[in-house]
Amino acid sequence: MCSVLFHTLFLSISVSSLHTSSSVSAKQHYKMLVLGGGSGGIAMSARMKRMMGAENVAVVEPSEMHYYQPIWTLVGAGAKTAASSGRSTASVMPSGVKWVKSKVEEINPDTNTVRTDDGTEISYEYLIVALGLQLHYERIKGLPDGFEHPKIGSNYSIQTVEKTWNALQNFKGGNAVFSFPNTPVKCAGAPQKIMYLSDSYLRKTGKRSKAKIIYNTSLPVLFGVKKYADSLWEIVKQRDLQVNLRQNLIEVRADKQEAVFENLDKPGETTVIEYEMLHVTPPMGPSLAIKGGPLADEVGWLDVDRDTLQHKRYPNVFGIGDCTNLPTVRTAAAVAAQSAILNRTISKTLKKEKPDKKYDGYTSCPLVTSYNTVILAEFDYNLQPLETFPINQAKERRLMYHMKADLMPHLYWHGLLRGLWGGPGPYRKLLHLGMK
Ligand SMILES: Cc1cc2nc3c(=O)[nH]c(=O)nc-3n(C[C@H](O)[C@H](O)[C@H](O)COP(=O)(O)OP(=O)(O)OC[C@H]3O[C@@H](n4cnc5c(N)ncnc54)[C@H](O)[C@@H]3O)c2cc1C
Ligand SMILES: *[C@@H]1O[C@H](CO)[C@@H](O)[C@H](O)[C@H]1NC(C)=O
Ligand SMILES: *[C@@H]1O[C@H](CO)[C@@H](O)[C@H](O)[C@H]1NC(C)=O
Ligand SMILES: *[C@@H]1O[C@H](CO)[C@@H](O)[C@H](O)[C@H]1NC(C)=O
Repeated sequence: MCSVLFHTLFLSISVSSLHTSSSVSAKQHYKMLVLGGGSGGIAMSARMKRMMGAENVAVVEPSEMHYYQPIWTLVGAGAKTAASSGRSTASVMPSGVKWVKSKVEEINPDTNTVRTDDGTEISYEYLIVALGLQLHYERIKGLPDGFEHPKIGSNYSIQTVEKTWNALQNFKGGNAVFSFPNTPVKCAGAPQKIMYLSDSYLRKTGKRSKAKIIYNTSLPVLFGVKKYADSLWEIVKQRDLQVNLRQNLIEVRADKQEAVFENLDKPGETTVIEYEMLHVTPPMGPSLAIKGGPLADEVGWLDVDRDTLQHKRYPNVFGIGDCTNLPTVRTAAAVAAQSAILNRTISKTLKKEKPDKKYDGYTSCPLVTSYNTVILAEFDYNLQPLETFPINQAKERRLMYHMKADLMPHLYWHGLLRGLWGGPGPYRKLLHLGMK
């Protein structure tokens, strides 16, 4: 009791002295402050550097490493290494732009300030919020501790992605189970890509006949866009994959290799499945630095205008990517298209003009269906296909696999992150001979 009290006292003294010293010495101001140095944050800081000069731009990002997350699907299947997905944050930060290596704790748009975890206060004239989303493994009973056991993995975080590959390689026979949570997720295709690749791998290694592959998803559909869902249902039938809709993973008993699913249409009704391999797609939610604060909507996402990406109540605040409430599927491809629109919106705002260009909700999800084929789903706010190539992209194609595995990473590191890739819009027009 006493020692706890002492500890608390000691902590509060040292913390408060830390606060005063750092906030006095480290008061900072930037014309353009970018929160988050992921896909959207780095792309926008490169564009803002070009617009107003590097010395006017700062990025707040705590992580030493920057990851190209889309490649994790392929890491989990052993087709790429985890190391190949990361580069140092220092190497992707546009030169001359100030990197503030700390975590955003609180945003106060009424005073145009941001407070970080080390107590520093940074003020801004304009703010771009690109904080991504939050993974919630802890909302599944038994996780994240369960990851200490074998035969369970998740391609959604760098800490667990290689475990997926181990589980797959060591698979002998039994149930291979894949989940999809009851929340919005980033890259809504990834949870099933993993299943298709696992199926391919087990066929390649002659173990497929000993496996029952089960995809229990919380969604009422296999994929949100009908054109692609139809193709995927065909593949699922051909390959004998068992898809169960409206089933939500609520518990993992990793010591017994059991997964517990709840039927979302009959709350309280649960089924226990024994697994030989389990791939978990975790529940996801808004960034904790936004949720509950003045910039959030009722759910906690950054509340931006769906056309211009400008905040609905604070006109000097803008948002991009997974942290926003834009009603489209959260992907890096969407971030690319958004970065071009946001560049325009900010440029207009700086000139005191009205933003004019509108984001159509473009997003894209390469649905890897085997080690050499992909269905390239591309669509907009209305869930209407918006395809770049003048061919039916709902068909499985080899060319698209090379795009996903080889071309896209190149476009990411050298195009998007340098503020030079704003999505395929202009090329779509060109490839469709100006017809779309
Ligand atoms: C397995 C998987 C497969 C995917 N496949 C595809 C695909 O095929 N195609 C595709 O287009 N997209 C895909 N994606 C999605 C894509 O990676 C994301 O949508 C994209 O990276 C979003 O960019 P962002 O800038 O919004 O967020 P992120 O790139 O996640 O960046 C957010 C940044 O904010 C930082 N941050 C978080 N909290 C704080 C804080 N409090 N203070 C400061 N910084 C903070 C983080 O460290 C991070 O660097 C996939 C994702 C996964 C996980
Ligand atoms: C991770 O992704 C790969 C490829 O999609 C897949 O084969 C692997 O099974 C995934 N991991 C798990 C645990 O399913
Ligand atoms: C999940 O998959 C299994 C196996 O196909 C199925 O029997 C079960 O009904 C599904 N749902 C639940 C709640 O487990
Ligand atoms: C971004 O905006 C600036 C300033 O208006 C403009 O010069 C630049 O061409 C824009 N970049 C792109 C790729 O549209």
